[in-house]
Amino acid sequence: MELKETEKQFVLQTYKRLPIEVDHADGVYVYGKDGKKYLDFFGGIAVNALGYNNARVRSAILNQVDRYMHMSNLFYMDVQIELAELICKLSGYSKIFFTNSGTEAVEAAIKLSRKWGSGENKSKLFALTNSFHGRTLGALSLTDRAKYRQGFEPFLPDVDHIAFNDVVELTKKVDSKTAAVFVEFIQGEGGINVISDDFVEQLFSLRKKYHFLIVADEIQAGIYRTGKLFSFEHYAVHPDMVAVAKPLGGGLPLGGLLVDSLLADVLGYGAHGTTFGGNPVSCAAGLATLQELSEREIGSHVSRVGNYFRQKLSDFEKIHPEFVSEVRGLGFMLGVECKTDCSEFVSLLLSNGVLANCTNGNVIRILPPLIIEEAHVDSFMSALKETYNEHFSRVRSKENTVAV
Ligand SMILES: Cc1ncc(COP(=O)(O)O)c(C=O)c1O
Repeated sequence: MELKETEKQFVLQTYKRLPIEVDHADGVYVYGKDGKKYLDFFGGIAVNALGYNNARVRSAILNQVDRYMHMSNLFYMDVQIELAELICKLSGYSKIFFTNSGTEAVEAAIKLSRKWGSGENKSKLFALTNSFHGRTLGALSLTDRAKYRQGFEPFLPDVDHIAFNDVVELTKKVDSKTAAVFVEFIQGEGGINVISDDFVEQLFSLRKKYHFLIVADEIQAGIYRTGKLFSFEHYAVHPDMVAVAKPLGGGLPLGGLLVDSLLADVLGYGAHGTTFGGNPVSCAAGLATLQELSEREIGSHVSRVGNYFRQKLSDFEKIHPEFVSEVRGLGFMLGVECKTDCSEFVSLLLSNGVLANCTNGNVIRILPPLIIEEAHVDSFMSALKETYNEHFSRVRSKENTVAV
């Protein structure tokens, strides 16, 4: 049986897969079994910061596999502790709780917020409209995308949403009963929406007034994707907790919740835990990844090449105002908002050898590995222009057929 048919027969059909049977991947390219080569500007959904098959990460994984692959969290594991120390030192946060995924890091933040608030009669949790925080029932209660929520009600009690960037609604909704506000400083799934300075300023001033926690969801925007370790650093603020995942495990499953020193003792022995979270092989890969990214000073590389990329996209926008309504984002977290649905366009782009994504219906989401250079951006732009010409000649010929 063909691979596609076997998948259909044996795997729950929750993913709309791309029409590629992967053979292997290397650097910034994915190779199909049919011999086709794709420039990957989606990076495993913001996971593959160093691209595929990085030698240092690979050898860290193999070395750890030879030592031990799983050990329960009842043991002291040097790689796990070294990764904790490195990320705390780089970020200025006090401690981390390791998880397997981003969603679980958000769950840990929900639990910690509730536990912290329980002593002070604060239970309300807020997130922003159009947000994505994950799909377990706790995280989904915060996520505000109808297509992910429908049919899964009822959600956690005492959870509400504040309209994105709406300072008036923010001021009306939070109060002394608020335990925490969850924020993506740049929304990923929601369409690369950048939070406004005014909103952030008011959020942090209300925190002072009502004494609640601010949780930054840096699962997609974090680990240098926007040119800084975390996207909130562009606003010079310090949230109380930070959820991280995606590139943290260097391609293996790993997430974490970083907490400020005032929260370091809220969850004591037995209050929270996981069998696999902080797996030593994932931590070895994550440690090598974080070492490589920080030693290479990847943040300034991302800012520099990101500015170049953004400029090229803005030039494209100027030439094609009938197609593009806005270019948004920072570093290598970029979105091209189109005037119509972009899913067909992105499929055509793929057939032209470039992988990007269409999110929220009409936003081309671009999340390349952090190691791309200007030449890769130029290849992307050529494919974008070629795809644009093909797309519109198809649209025109459809229109002509209808007219005839
Ligand atoms: C901002 C954000 N939060 C949470 C998640 C959930 O992370 P995971 O898929 O690792 O559970 C994602 C995943 O895309 C995300 O982008």
